[in-house]
Amino acid sequence: MNFELTEEHLAVRDAARDFAQNVLLPGVIERDDKQEFPKEQIRQLGELGFLGMMVNPKYGGGGMDALSYAIAMEEFSKVEAASSVCVSVCNSLVNYGLEAYGSEEQKLKYLVPLATGEKIGAFCLSEPEAGSDATSQRTTAIDKGDYYLLNGTKNWITNGGSASTYIVIAQTDVEKGHRGINAFIVERGMDGFIVGAKENKMGIRASDTHTLLFNDVKVPKGNRIGEDGFGFKFAMKTLEGGRIGVASQALGIATGAFELATAYSKERKAFGKEISKHQAIQFKLADMATEIEAARLLVYRSAWLKDQGLPYGQASAMAKLYASKVAMDTTIEAVQIHGGYGFVKEYHVERMMRDAKITQIYEGTSEVQKIVISRGILQD
Ligand code: CAA
Repeated sequence: MNFELTEEHLAVRDAARDFAQNVLLPGVIERDDKQEFPKEQIRQLGELGFLGMMVNPKYGGGGMDALSYAIAMEEFSKVEAASSVCVSVCNSLVNYGLEAYGSEEQKLKYLVPLATGEKIGAFCLSEPEAGSDATSQRTTAIDKGDYYLLNGTKNWITNGGSASTYIVIAQTDVEKGHRGINAFIVERGMDGFIVGAKENKMGIRASDTHTLLFNDVKVPKGNRIGEDGFGFKFAMKTLEGGRIGVASQALGIATGAFELATAYSKERKAFGKEISKHQAIQFKLADMATEIEAARLLVYRSAWLKDQGLPYGQASAMAKLYASKVAMDTTIEAVQIHGGYGFVKEYHVERMMRDAKITQIYEGTSEVQKIVISRGILQD
Protein backbone atom coordinates (compact mmCIF):
# COMPACT_ATOMS: atom_id res chain seq x y z
CA MET A 1 0.00 0.00 0.00
CA ASN A 2 1.49 3.31 -1.10
CA PHE A 3 0.21 6.44 0.62
CA GLU A 4 2.44 8.83 -1.30
CA LEU A 5 0.93 11.16 -3.85
CA THR A 6 2.42 11.06 -7.35
CA GLU A 7 4.16 14.05 -8.92
CA GLU A 8 1.02 14.69 -10.99
CA HIS A 9 -1.15 14.76 -7.86
CA LEU A 10 1.29 17.10 -6.13
CA ALA A 11 1.26 19.40 -9.17
CA VAL A 12 -2.55 19.52 -9.11
CA ARG A 13 -2.45 20.27 -5.38
CA ASP A 14 0.05 23.11 -5.86
CA ALA A 15 -1.90 24.65 -8.75
CA ALA A 16 -5.19 24.47 -6.82
CA ARG A 17 -3.53 25.82 -3.66
CA ASP A 18 -2.05 28.78 -5.54
CA PHE A 19 -5.38 29.53 -7.15
CA ALA A 20 -7.19 29.37 -3.81
CA GLN A 21 -4.71 31.68 -2.09
CA ASN A 22 -4.31 34.18 -4.93
CA VAL A 23 -7.73 34.24 -6.56
CA LEU A 24 -10.32 32.88 -4.11
CA LEU A 25 -9.07 34.37 -0.86
CA PRO A 26 -9.30 38.06 -1.86
CA GLY A 27 -12.92 39.10 -1.38
CA VAL A 28 -14.13 35.83 0.15
CA ILE A 29 -15.62 37.57 3.22
CA GLU A 30 -17.39 40.23 1.13
CA ARG A 31 -18.82 37.67 -1.31
CA ASP A 32 -20.22 35.68 1.62
CA ASP A 33 -21.66 38.82 3.17
CA LYS A 34 -23.30 40.05 -0.04
CA GLN A 35 -24.22 36.57 -1.31
CA GLU A 36 -22.31 37.41 -4.46
CA PHE A 37 -21.61 34.52 -6.83
CA PRO A 38 -17.85 34.29 -7.62
CA LYS A 39 -18.49 34.69 -11.33
CA GLU A 40 -15.02 35.83 -12.37
CA GLN A 41 -13.32 33.22 -10.14
CA ILE A 42 -15.45 30.45 -11.65
CA ARG A 43 -14.70 31.75 -15.16
CA GLN A 44 -10.98 31.44 -14.41
CA LEU A 45 -11.44 27.98 -12.91
CA GLY A 46 -13.16 26.95 -16.14
CA GLU A 47 -10.39 28.42 -18.26
CA LEU A 48 -7.79 26.51 -16.25
CA GLY A 49 -9.69 23.26 -16.79
CA PHE A 50 -10.88 22.76 -13.20
CA LEU A 51 -14.56 22.40 -14.15
CA GLY A 52 -13.93 19.45 -16.46
CA MET A 53 -11.01 17.80 -14.71
CA MET A 54 -12.04 14.17 -15.20
CA VAL A 55 -13.60 14.44 -18.65
CA ASN A 56 -11.82 12.65 -21.48
CA PRO A 57 -9.65 15.13 -23.46
CA LYS A 58 -11.56 14.18 -26.63
CA TYR A 59 -14.52 16.04 -25.11
CA GLY A 60 -12.40 18.97 -23.95
CA GLY A 61 -11.62 17.76 -20.43
CA GLY A 62 -8.45 17.28 -18.43
CA GLY A 63 -8.53 13.46 -18.39
CA MET A 64 -7.49 13.39 -14.73
CA ASP A 65 -8.36 10.82 -12.12
CA ALA A 66 -10.83 11.19 -9.25
CA LEU A 67 -8.01 11.52 -6.73
CA SER A 68 -6.73 14.65 -8.53
CA TYR A 69 -10.25 16.02 -8.38
CA ALA A 70 -10.54 15.27 -4.64
CA ILE A 71 -7.20 16.97 -3.99
CA ALA A 72 -8.20 20.10 -5.95
CA MET A 73 -11.58 20.22 -4.20
CA GLU A 74 -9.84 20.02 -0.83
CA GLU A 75 -7.60 23.00 -1.68
CA PHE A 76 -10.42 25.21 -3.01
CA SER A 77 -12.61 24.34 -0.03
CA LYS A 78 -9.91 25.33 2.45
CA VAL A 79 -10.57 28.88 1.28
CA GLU A 80 -14.03 29.18 -0.31
CA ALA A 81 -16.58 26.38 -0.11
CA ALA A 82 -19.06 28.55 -2.02
CA SER A 83 -16.79 28.29 -5.06
CA SER A 84 -15.91 24.66 -4.59
CA VAL A 85 -19.54 23.53 -4.60
CA CYS A 86 -19.79 24.91 -8.14
CA VAL A 87 -16.64 22.97 -9.09
CA SER A 88 -18.10 19.84 -7.51
CA VAL A 89 -21.51 19.99 -9.20
CA CYS A 90 -19.94 20.71 -12.62
CA ASN A 91 -17.37 17.90 -12.38
CA SER A 92 -19.10 15.10 -10.61
CA LEU A 93 -22.81 15.53 -11.16
CA VAL A 94 -23.22 17.17 -14.56
CA ASN A 95 -20.06 16.28 -16.52
CA TYR A 96 -19.66 12.80 -15.09
CA GLY A 97 -23.35 12.03 -15.68
CA LEU A 98 -23.17 13.17 -19.30
CA GLU A 99 -19.90 11.42 -20.04
CA ALA A 100 -20.87 8.12 -18.42
CA TYR A 101 -24.46 7.89 -19.67
CA GLY A 102 -25.04 10.47 -22.42
CA SER A 103 -25.18 9.70 -26.14
CA GLU A 104 -22.33 10.73 -28.43
CA GLU A 105 -24.50 13.51 -29.79
CA GLN A 106 -25.29 14.79 -26.30
CA LYS A 107 -21.61 14.70 -25.37
CA LEU A 108 -20.58 16.73 -28.42
CA LYS A 109 -23.36 19.25 -28.00
CA TYR A 110 -23.49 19.64 -24.21
CA LEU A 111 -20.46 18.07 -22.55
CA VAL A 112 -17.76 19.83 -24.58
CA PRO A 113 -18.73 23.42 -23.61
CA LEU A 114 -19.18 22.28 -20.00
CA ALA A 115 -15.83 20.50 -19.83
CA THR A 116 -13.98 23.47 -21.29
CA GLY A 117 -15.63 25.77 -18.77
CA GLU A 118 -17.43 27.79 -21.41
CA LYS A 119 -20.71 26.85 -19.74
CA ILE A 120 -21.80 25.90 -16.22
CA GLY A 121 -24.10 23.02 -15.38
CA ALA A 122 -26.68 22.27 -12.69
CA PHE A 123 -28.16 19.01 -11.40
CA CYS A 124 -31.86 19.21 -10.58
CA LEU A 125 -33.17 16.38 -8.42
CA SER A 126 -34.49 17.93 -5.19
CA GLU A 127 -38.05 19.13 -4.97
CA PRO A 128 -40.21 20.73 -2.28
CA GLU A 129 -41.31 17.21 -1.26
CA ALA A 130 -38.45 15.09 -2.60
CA GLY A 131 -35.17 15.63 -0.78
CA SER A 132 -33.92 12.47 0.89
CA ASP A 133 -36.87 10.54 -0.57
CA ALA A 134 -35.70 11.05 -4.13
CA THR A 135 -38.16 8.56 -5.68
CA SER A 136 -41.09 10.89 -4.81
CA GLN A 137 -40.62 13.10 -7.87
CA ARG A 138 -43.59 15.40 -8.59
CA THR A 139 -42.03 17.03 -11.66
CA THR A 140 -43.55 15.34 -14.69
CA ALA A 141 -42.28 14.87 -18.23
CA ILE A 142 -45.08 13.55 -20.40
CA ASP A 143 -44.21 11.86 -23.68
CA LYS A 144 -45.79 13.87 -26.53
CA GLY A 145 -44.17 12.10 -29.45
CA ASP A 146 -41.27 14.30 -30.58
CA TYR A 147 -40.81 15.88 -27.20
CA TYR A 148 -41.51 15.56 -23.48
CA LEU A 149 -43.68 18.19 -21.79
CA LEU A 150 -41.94 19.15 -18.56
CA ASN A 151 -43.84 20.62 -15.61
CA GLY A 152 -42.84 21.10 -12.00
CA THR A 153 -40.60 22.82 -9.48
CA LYS A 154 -37.05 22.04 -8.36
CA ASN A 155 -35.62 23.39 -5.11
CA TRP A 156 -32.20 24.30 -3.71
CA ILE A 157 -30.49 23.99 -7.08
CA THR A 158 -26.78 24.83 -6.93
CA ASN A 159 -25.71 27.05 -9.88
CA GLY A 160 -29.45 27.55 -10.52
CA GLY A 161 -29.09 31.13 -11.72
CA SER A 162 -25.71 30.83 -13.43
CA ALA A 163 -25.93 27.57 -15.33
CA SER A 164 -26.72 27.15 -19.02
CA THR A 165 -27.20 23.38 -19.03
CA TYR A 166 -29.46 21.66 -16.51
CA ILE A 167 -29.91 17.95 -15.90
CA VAL A 168 -33.49 17.60 -14.70
CA ILE A 169 -34.93 14.45 -13.15
CA ALA A 170 -38.66 13.97 -13.76
CA GLN A 171 -41.41 11.36 -13.60
CA THR A 172 -42.58 10.19 -17.00
CA ASP A 173 -44.81 7.35 -15.85
CA VAL A 174 -46.25 7.51 -12.33
CA GLU A 175 -47.52 3.91 -12.50
CA LYS A 176 -43.97 2.62 -12.83
CA GLY A 177 -42.68 4.36 -9.67
CA HIS A 178 -38.93 4.93 -9.71
CA ARG A 179 -38.69 2.88 -12.93
CA GLY A 180 -40.78 5.59 -14.61
CA ILE A 181 -38.27 8.36 -13.84
CA ASN A 182 -36.04 9.91 -16.53
CA ALA A 183 -33.19 12.42 -16.68
CA PHE A 184 -33.30 15.22 -19.26
CA ILE A 185 -30.95 17.88 -20.53
CA VAL A 186 -32.71 21.22 -20.35
CA GLU A 187 -31.24 24.40 -21.78
CA ARG A 188 -31.54 27.79 -20.21
CA GLY A 189 -33.79 29.86 -22.43
CA MET A 190 -36.19 27.06 -23.37
CA ASP A 191 -39.73 28.46 -23.33
CA GLY A 192 -41.44 27.97 -19.98
CA PHE A 193 -38.22 27.49 -18.00
CA ILE A 194 -38.06 30.09 -15.24
CA VAL A 195 -35.23 30.66 -12.80
CA GLY A 196 -37.05 31.42 -9.54
CA ALA A 197 -36.09 32.90 -6.20
CA LYS A 198 -32.53 32.79 -4.90
CA GLU A 199 -32.16 31.25 -1.45
CA ASN A 200 -30.85 33.36 1.45
CA LYS A 201 -28.65 30.73 3.09
CA MET A 202 -26.84 30.14 6.39
CA GLY A 203 -23.64 29.02 4.68
CA ILE A 204 -21.97 28.84 1.26
CA ARG A 205 -23.80 32.14 0.84
CA ALA A 206 -21.89 33.16 -2.29
CA SER A 207 -23.01 30.02 -4.11
CA ASP A 208 -25.97 30.47 -6.39
CA THR A 209 -28.92 28.43 -5.09
CA HIS A 210 -32.32 28.82 -6.73
CA THR A 211 -35.78 27.41 -7.13
CA LEU A 212 -36.45 26.47 -10.77
CA LEU A 213 -39.87 26.34 -12.40
CA PHE A 214 -40.84 24.39 -15.51
CA ASN A 215 -44.14 25.37 -17.12
CA ASP A 216 -44.91 23.31 -20.22
CA VAL A 217 -41.27 23.19 -21.30
CA LYS A 218 -40.89 21.19 -24.53
CA VAL A 219 -37.80 19.03 -24.12
CA PRO A 220 -36.71 17.26 -27.34
CA LYS A 221 -36.78 13.46 -27.24
CA GLY A 222 -33.04 13.44 -27.97
CA ASN A 223 -32.39 15.18 -24.64
CA ARG A 224 -33.41 12.20 -22.53
CA ILE A 225 -30.33 10.56 -21.00
CA GLY A 226 -30.16 6.79 -21.43
CA GLU A 227 -32.95 4.27 -21.92
CA ASP A 228 -36.53 5.08 -20.91
CA GLY A 229 -36.85 4.70 -17.12
CA PHE A 230 -33.13 5.02 -16.39
CA GLY A 231 -33.42 8.38 -14.61
CA PHE A 232 -33.47 7.21 -10.99
CA LYS A 233 -30.50 4.91 -11.42
CA PHE A 234 -28.75 7.67 -13.33
CA ALA A 235 -29.24 9.99 -10.34
CA MET A 236 -28.07 7.36 -7.83
CA LYS A 237 -24.96 6.41 -9.84
CA THR A 238 -24.06 10.05 -10.40
CA LEU A 239 -24.50 10.88 -6.72
CA GLU A 240 -22.06 8.12 -5.77
CA GLY A 241 -19.31 10.21 -7.35
CA GLY A 242 -20.85 13.48 -6.21
CA ARG A 243 -20.37 12.33 -2.65
CA ILE A 244 -16.61 12.11 -3.23
CA GLY A 245 -16.77 15.79 -4.19
CA VAL A 246 -18.74 16.83 -1.10
CA ALA A 247 -16.55 14.67 1.15
CA SER A 248 -13.48 16.44 -0.30
CA GLN A 249 -15.18 19.76 0.26
CA ALA A 250 -15.84 18.88 3.91
CA LEU A 251 -12.24 17.73 4.28
CA GLY A 252 -11.04 21.06 2.86
CA ILE A 253 -13.26 23.13 5.16
CA ALA A 254 -11.97 21.17 8.17
CA THR A 255 -8.34 21.50 7.09
CA GLY A 256 -8.71 25.23 6.40
CA ALA A 257 -10.20 25.86 9.85
CA PHE A 258 -7.59 23.67 11.53
CA GLU A 259 -4.71 25.53 9.86
CA LEU A 260 -6.13 28.90 10.89
CA ALA A 261 -6.69 27.72 14.47
CA THR A 262 -3.16 26.29 14.71
CA ALA A 263 -1.58 29.52 13.42
CA TYR A 264 -3.71 31.62 15.74
CA SER A 265 -2.83 29.49 18.77
CA LYS A 266 0.85 30.19 18.18
CA GLU A 267 0.28 33.96 18.17
CA ARG A 268 -2.38 34.57 20.78
CA LYS A 269 -1.11 34.90 24.34
CA ALA A 270 -3.11 34.18 27.50
CA PHE A 271 -1.99 33.60 31.06
CA GLY A 272 1.57 34.66 30.16
CA LYS A 273 2.22 32.38 27.15
CA GLU A 274 0.99 31.48 23.68
CA ILE A 275 -2.25 29.55 23.97
CA SER A 276 -0.63 26.70 21.96
CA LYS A 277 1.49 26.07 25.06
CA HIS A 278 -1.62 25.26 27.11
CA GLN A 279 -2.55 21.61 27.15
CA ALA A 280 -6.25 22.47 26.73
CA ILE A 281 -5.43 23.80 23.25
CA GLN A 282 -2.86 21.12 22.42
CA PHE A 283 -5.43 18.38 23.06
CA LYS A 284 -7.96 20.11 20.83
CA LEU A 285 -5.40 20.41 18.00
CA ALA A 286 -4.39 16.76 18.41
CA ASP A 287 -8.01 15.60 18.13
CA MET A 288 -8.66 17.84 15.13
CA ALA A 289 -5.52 16.65 13.29
CA THR A 290 -6.29 12.98 13.94
CA GLU A 291 -9.89 13.24 12.76
CA ILE A 292 -8.90 15.20 9.64
CA GLU A 293 -6.30 12.57 8.74
CA ALA A 294 -8.85 9.77 9.16
CA ALA A 295 -11.31 11.70 6.97
CA ARG A 296 -8.60 12.23 4.33
CA LEU A 297 -7.91 8.49 4.19
CA LEU A 298 -11.61 7.73 3.63
CA VAL A 299 -11.92 10.44 0.97
CA TYR A 300 -8.79 9.42 -0.92
CA ARG A 301 -9.72 5.75 -0.71
CA SER A 302 -13.15 6.35 -2.22
CA ALA A 303 -11.53 8.31 -5.08
CA TRP A 304 -8.94 5.57 -5.52
CA LEU A 305 -11.66 2.89 -5.74
CA LYS A 306 -13.40 4.91 -8.46
CA ASP A 307 -10.11 5.25 -10.32
CA GLN A 308 -9.58 1.48 -10.16
CA GLY A 309 -13.02 0.84 -11.64
CA LEU A 310 -14.10 -0.85 -8.39
CA PRO A 311 -17.45 -0.27 -6.61
CA TYR A 312 -17.25 2.94 -4.59
CA GLY A 313 -20.83 3.81 -3.58
CA GLN A 314 -20.47 2.61 -0.02
CA ALA A 315 -16.98 4.07 0.34
CA SER A 316 -18.07 7.51 -0.90
CA ALA A 317 -21.04 7.46 1.50
CA MET A 318 -18.66 6.64 4.37
CA ALA A 319 -16.26 9.38 3.29
CA LYS A 320 -19.05 11.95 3.11
CA LEU A 321 -20.65 10.86 6.39
CA TYR A 322 -17.39 11.05 8.30
CA ALA A 323 -15.71 14.03 6.61
CA SER A 324 -18.81 16.19 7.01
CA LYS A 325 -18.96 15.37 10.73
CA VAL A 326 -15.26 16.21 11.02
CA ALA A 327 -15.87 19.50 9.18
CA MET A 328 -18.62 20.42 11.63
CA ASP A 329 -16.69 19.39 14.75
CA THR A 330 -13.41 20.95 13.60
CA THR A 331 -14.91 24.29 12.63
CA ILE A 332 -16.74 24.55 15.98
CA GLU A 333 -13.44 23.90 17.78
CA ALA A 334 -11.61 26.37 15.52
CA VAL A 335 -14.10 29.09 16.54
CA GLN A 336 -13.60 28.09 20.19
CA ILE A 337 -9.81 28.36 19.93
CA HIS A 338 -10.16 31.83 18.39
CA GLY A 339 -12.44 32.89 21.28
CA GLY A 340 -14.16 36.24 20.64
CA TYR A 341 -12.18 36.72 17.42
CA GLY A 342 -13.64 33.50 16.09
CA PHE A 343 -17.11 34.98 16.36
CA VAL A 344 -16.37 37.85 13.98
CA LYS A 345 -16.04 37.63 10.22
CA GLU A 346 -12.45 38.80 9.70
CA TYR A 347 -11.00 35.56 11.08
CA HIS A 348 -12.81 33.30 8.56
CA VAL A 349 -13.63 30.47 10.95
CA GLU A 350 -17.21 31.57 11.67
CA ARG A 351 -17.89 31.36 7.90
CA MET A 352 -16.29 27.94 7.76
CA MET A 353 -18.50 26.78 10.64
CA ARG A 354 -21.60 27.93 8.75
CA ASP A 355 -20.33 26.40 5.48
CA ALA A 356 -19.57 23.05 7.13
CA LYS A 357 -23.24 22.43 7.95
CA ILE A 358 -24.37 22.01 4.35
CA THR A 359 -21.92 19.14 3.82
CA GLN A 360 -24.12 17.13 6.23
CA ILE A 361 -27.19 17.93 4.15
CA TYR A 362 -26.67 18.12 0.38
CA GLU A 363 -26.09 15.16 -1.94
CA GLY A 364 -27.83 13.11 0.73
CA THR A 365 -28.09 13.92 4.44
CA SER A 366 -25.94 12.03 6.93
CA GLU A 367 -28.96 9.80 7.52
CA VAL A 368 -29.11 8.96 3.78
CA GLN A 369 -25.40 8.06 3.85
CA LYS A 370 -26.15 5.67 6.73
CA ILE A 371 -28.94 4.05 4.67
CA VAL A 372 -26.50 3.51 1.78
CA ILE A 373 -23.74 2.18 4.08
CA SER A 374 -25.99 -0.16 6.06
CA ARG A 375 -27.52 -1.59 2.86
CA GLY A 376 -24.00 -2.41 1.72
CA ILE A 377 -23.34 -4.17 5.02
CA LEU A 378 -26.59 -6.12 5.10
CA GLN A 379 -26.97 -7.14 1.45
CA ASP A 380 -26.71 -10.87 0.77
N1 CAA B 1 -26.70 2.59 -8.21
C1 CAA B 1 -27.56 2.02 -9.08
N2 CAA B 1 -28.87 1.79 -8.76
C2 CAA B 1 -29.26 2.16 -7.54
C3 CAA B 1 -28.42 2.76 -6.60
C4 CAA B 1 -27.08 2.97 -6.98
N3 CAA B 1 -26.21 3.54 -6.15
N4 CAA B 1 -29.11 3.01 -5.47
C5 CAA B 1 -30.36 2.58 -5.70
N5 CAA B 1 -30.45 2.05 -6.95
C6 CAA B 1 -31.61 1.44 -7.59
C7 CAA B 1 -32.07 0.21 -6.82
O1 CAA B 1 -31.40 -0.94 -7.26
C8 CAA B 1 -33.56 0.19 -7.17
O2 CAA B 1 -33.72 -0.35 -8.46
P1 CAA B 1 -34.61 -1.68 -8.74
O3 CAA B 1 -35.92 -1.47 -8.04
O4 CAA B 1 -34.72 -1.74 -10.21
O5 CAA B 1 -33.84 -2.79 -8.14
C9 CAA B 1 -33.92 1.65 -7.28
O6 CAA B 1 -32.71 2.35 -7.53
C10 CAA B 1 -34.59 2.19 -6.05
O7 CAA B 1 -33.66 1.98 -4.99
P2 CAA B 1 -34.07 2.01 -3.47
O8 CAA B 1 -35.28 1.14 -3.26
O9 CAA B 1 -32.84 1.74 -2.70
O10 CAA B 1 -34.54 3.53 -3.30
P3 CAA B 1 -34.99 4.27 -2.01
O11 CAA B 1 -36.22 5.02 -2.31
O12 CAA B 1 -35.03 3.35 -0.83
O13 CAA B 1 -33.86 5.40 -1.82
C11 CAA B 1 -31.87 6.49 -1.07
C12 CAA B 1 -32.57 5.20 -1.49
C13 CAA B 1 -30.46 6.05 -0.86
C14 CAA B 1 -32.44 7.08 0.23
C15 CAA B 1 -31.98 7.53 -2.21
O14 CAA B 1 -33.29 8.02 -2.39
C16 CAA B 1 -31.07 8.73 -2.01
O15 CAA B 1 -29.88 8.65 -2.28
N6 CAA B 1 -31.62 9.88 -1.55
C17 CAA B 1 -30.85 11.11 -1.42
C18 CAA B 1 -30.91 11.91 -2.67
C19 CAA B 1 -29.85 12.96 -2.71
O16 CAA B 1 -28.68 12.70 -2.49
N7 CAA B 1 -30.29 14.18 -3.07
C20 CAA B 1 -29.33 15.22 -3.24
C21 CAA B 1 -29.78 16.16 -4.29
S1 CAA B 1 -28.54 16.64 -5.40
C22 CAA B 1 -27.64 17.86 -4.64
O17 CAA B 1 -27.69 18.07 -3.45
C23 CAA B 1 -26.75 18.57 -5.56
C24 CAA B 1 -26.34 19.92 -5.14
O18 CAA B 1 -26.96 20.90 -5.49
C25 CAA B 1 -25.10 20.08 -4.39
